Amino acid sequence: MNKKLIEYLYCIECKGDLEMNNQNLVCKECDKEYEIKGGVPIMLSKLKGGLKKSYQTFSEEWRIHKKGEKLWGRSKQERKELFWEQIGGKVNKGILLDAGCGIGETEDLIVDNFDIIIAMDLSDSVFNAQKNNKYKDKVFFVQGDVGKLPFRDNIFDYVYSEGVIHHSPNPRVSFNELSRVNRGKLYIWVYLKMSHTGRNKFTSIIYQSLRSVIGRMPFPMQKFIINWMGQPIGNIIYYLGGRREGETNQERLVLLWDAFGVRYAHHFTMKEIKNWFKDNNLENIIISDKTEDIGFGTYGVKNSREKKK
Ligand SMILES: C[S@@+](CC[C@H](N)C(=O)[O-])C[C@H]1O[C@@H](n2cnc3c(N)ncnc32)[C@H](O)[C@@H]1O
Ligand SMILES: [Zn+2]
Repeated sequence: MNKKLIEYLYCIECKGDLEMNNQNLVCKECDKEYEIKGGVPIMLSKLKGGLKKSYQTFSEEWRIHKKGEKLWGRSKQERKELFWEQIGGKVNKGILLDAGCGIGETEDLIVDNFDIIIAMDLSDSVFNAQKNNKYKDKVFFVQGDVGKLPFRDNIFDYVYSEGVIHHSPNPRVSFNELSRVNRGKLYIWVYLKMSHTGRNKFTSIIYQSLRSVIGRMPFPMQKFIINWMGQPIGNIIYYLGGRREGETNQERLVLLWDAFGVRYAHHFTMKEIKNWFKDNNLENIIISDKTEDIGFGTYGVKNSREKKK
């Protein structure tokens, strides 16, 4: 693990400073040990309940994703352009946190525009992301939970979290965590409340019912249903919800895990999210991405009085 990363991290139990000890990170205050696997520090306590389920299903989702395939129906170039729109314009310096980085594709697209990028995810995708990443001295990967970030307060100029906090047990807590570590611009993308989308009611009900049934099944059963029966189920869903042009079976399987395998999928109105930004003293709040009625991206900037605290 690159030792530079220690400056940004802290102990998730007691907020103490960390040091390297026998290839592990150890808290100087409470002695909690954090394993480092393949250069990636594992900043988690023992996973249980819903969080464990999230870890399992997202690790499976990313295992299925094949390098080079489209992600969320978009090519790399499209994702790159969208990233700058989402955060309100191109930048060429600063420290970025990508909270819930998945396979680390975003890092690859924008690495030249930041001084340092820390990319974190709950799932084992971070290990592949780390392996695939060519810019090791600038991009650091961490395994962690967005609801309990292992980072110090006010250290990131940009905090970017695309499609993540609605999958966490308590999105409001996760949002507050993202806001805590941000000293500049904070961007999140979340699902839009179904009743506020243009989807017809019937599709929404089927969608939500499948998600709440499959999402609660034991993981091995989910694997059977999604990996083996995903194809016919996928055809029905995509027939109902509108199919994407040229989508491969593999891409659809990843989308099916994302849609039905996940344990948590909270939906919000734009007003609710804007209020979260306001409550956290974020200003210049802009809805910068409205994605096909599924969800929306919002950014806000920490107000200068807050920054100085
Ligand atoms: C829909 S994917 C989006 C990935 C990436 N941001 C992108 O746009 O491609 C959601 C990601 O959130 C991660 N995730 C889910 N719950 C999380 C949590 N509690 N803490 C951190 N990451 C989490 C998943 O592992 C997954 O990689
Ligand atoms: Zn500690």
